[in-house]
This record gives sequence, structure tokens and C-alpha cells, in this order.
Amino acid sequence: MNTVCCCIYQYKLNLEDQLGREFCQFQASQPKFVRPVLLCSAEMEQTSVVKPETLDELIEVLHKIFESDHINVEEVQNIMESYESNPLEWGKFAKFDPFRYTRNLVDEGNGKFNLMILCWGEGHGSSIHDHSDSHCFMKLLQGQLKETLFQWPEKSKGDMVQKSQRILQENKVAYINDSLGLHRVENGSHTEGAVSLHLYSPPFNTCQTFDQRTGHKNNVKMTFWSKYGERTPFETTVSQENN
Ligand SMILES: [Fe+2]
Repeated sequence: MNTVCCCIYQYKLNLEDQLGREFCQFQASQPKFVRPVLLCSAEMEQTSVVKPETLDELIEVLHKIFESDHINVEEVQNIMESYESNPLEWGKFAKFDPFRYTRNLVDEGNGKFNLMILCWGEGHGSSIHDHSDSHCFMKLLQGQLKETLFQWPEKSKGDMVQKSQRILQENKVAYINDSLGLHRVENGSHTEGAVSLHLYSPPFNTCQTFDQRTGHKNNVKMTFWSKYGERTPFETTVSQENN
């Protein structure tokens, strides 16, 4: 028997109707999604699987997941991946700049996480950077992005060591934290923009960037190009966003 388990979301009523037993604690006041449960394939065949059909539903589920202080990385990755990108839903947040990539705040996650959309014009890329001891999830909404992973620099100066490189395709979700290393993200296309959905938990607004040739690092402050679909007014400093 296939014993691989998957993370799925269910309506309580579906569970009760079809299985005649409770899997989840449910309060009438809660939103329609309940906490995810782990079911094996034999049980999955008998249950109805519900995935977030819209960006709003995805945000609703993420709020529920992040009520807990324990983050299950695979759970978050799965639910973000199960949302099928729809530009009609996220287009209002996707604001491009001709000169560099932009960070556009979508949701503040009740203080537990920041959800944002990054817009990468042709050839735009980040510096090599860390993630300030936070979890970082990155989902491709449109186009392709190249992620290059690096080791933390050693004390001895010199070129930083590259660990791996991959191309992220639409709807896929990458994950990184500081224990896995550092990364650079780039839109290698010279003809197409790219759009990605990022979740950081806990939220942070400064990180470190690294010079690939020397490993020297800098602290940088990050800002938002827009918040909730509205352009952030009166930027007075040159932003050096990296994430
Ligand atoms: Fe990053």
C-alpha cells in the first residue's frame, strides 16, 4: 500500500458525511477552512480534497496555519503550491519598475508573516542575501526565476562557494532559511517579466547582502514599492531590497 501522506484541507461537513467521524476540532466561528490534517492515501480516497481556489482563500488558510507558533515547512509549501496562479487575482499587486525588481506588500499575516509579490523585469536580479533567521517561501506566479544557492562565506576572503542552481517554474514553491545557506534570485529572461509570491515568517525589514567575489557583507534595509495595491509614497532613500 502506498503509505505516502499528503497535506490536504477538508470541510468538516464532508468529513462527517463521508467518514462518519471527526478528524478536526472545529468551531462554528472559524472560517470555512480548518487546520490541515495528514491522511494516508487509503483515507484520501474517501475524503474530498479542498485546495485554495483563489488568492484570498490561500491567505485565509495561511492565517489559520500561522496561528500556531510551530511552522511545518512542508505544510506551508504544499498549500502555497496547491494554489494555481491567476493573474486576475494578483494583478493589482504586481507593479513593475523599469530599473529593478519591486516588493509589493499583500498581507501582514496578523504579525506572524509578511506576504508579498515581487515583480522582476527582464534581467532583474537580487544580490546574494540571507533571510534574517526567518522562513522564506517563494512561489512562482508567472515566468521563470533562477535561484543560485551559496554557502555562507568563510573568514578567509575569496569567491563565495556556489552550492546549487535551479530554475523555478510557474506555481512551484522554493524554501530557504539561513541554515540552508544564502541565495541570489534572478530573472534570466530578456523578453519576459516574472512575478513571485513570497512569504516570510517572522517578518523582517533588514537583511545582509554579500559580495560574491570577497564574501564581504552589508546590512540593508528593505522597503515596499507598494502596499495593498497602492504605490508607497515619497520614498526618500534609495532602497536596496534583497530577499
Ligand atoms: Fe531570498
